[in-house]
Amino acid sequence: MSETSAANGRLAVVTGASSGIGAATVRRLRAAGFHVVAGARREDRLRDLAAQTGAHWRRLDVSDAQSVGDFVAALDECAVLVNNAGGALGMERVEEADDEHYARMYEINVLGLVRMTRGLLPLLIASGDGHIVNVGSIAGFEVYPGGAGYTSVKHAVRAVTGTLRLELLGKPVRVTEVDPGLVETEFSRVRFADDAARAQAVYSGMTPLTGDDVAECIAWAVTRPPHVNVDVIVVRPRDQASATQVHRRH
Ligand SMILES: NC(=O)c1ccc[n+]([C@@H]2O[C@H](COP(=O)([O-])OP(=O)(O)OC[C@H]3O[C@@H](n4cnc5c(N)ncnc54)[C@H](OP(=O)(O)O)[C@@H]3O)[C@@H](O)[C@H]2O)c1
Repeated sequence: MSETSAANGRLAVVTGASSGIGAATVRRLRAAGFHVVAGARREDRLRDLAAQTGAHWRRLDVSDAQSVGDFVAALDECAVLVNNAGGALGMERVEEADDEHYARMYEINVLGLVRMTRGLLPLLIASGDGHIVNVGSIAGFEVYPGGAGYTSVKHAVRAVTGTLRLELLGKPVRVTEVDPGLVETEFSRVRFADDAARAQAVYSGMTPLTGDDVAECIAWAVTRPPHVNVDVIVVRPRDQASATQVHRRH
């Protein structure tokens, strides 16, 4: 089955599409022949991406139920939902845990994914061949010092994803989780409150994944034949063996 015949003009929604993995996924799914609706909060970014790719876009804040409701109400079809919006805030040890960081991370990574999934499930089922792709992380099955806030929400993403696969058994909806290791995007800038030097140090001396590398995995999963459910894809840089074990050439 070719990518184009698998895409067959079906409509894909990508959240967190204004940068990094999400923007790369919009580009990759457009190239495969999907119609795409891109959602995020930064409208200028989405406008540029739409002009480059022919995707449609709409402002979306997954932490705001009203915004999710408006986004969903504007759609009358959806075959693929890529729940990619998310990220980390801070890296405090538990003894110094910041409640606000934990709450925001849960709102965006977990509740945002649940709201989007709940809202679009009727359209995904009605499509006759729906597919939900949740972008988790190796933080969904590993832990590291200072990472409890982020690892706990990505563990939750994994729990929700597995639950969905059980609950949707018998319905025409596939459920895939894509779990990357280090990817060079705006992720670390966001995590470290725009501290460019600290963000850059995360990738120093090693070759991280790019957003395109992860988008390729997502595109592969959603272009398999309808009876094939790819459960989980774990993808890391060759230079990374675990969340804390990274080979740096300096
Ligand atoms: N980079 C990594 O090393 C890595 C590794 C494993 C997993 N991940 C996961 O990959 C996903 C994408 O991250 P990335 O690396 O591409 O980072 P990124 O470049 O910072 O992109 C994050 C995206 O999420 C969007 N977003 C954040 N809050 C949102 C909200 N409330 N509503 C809607 N969209 C929101 C951002 O757009 P706006 O700010 O415009 O809303 C942005 O488009 C995340 O779930 C992240 O946890 C990343």
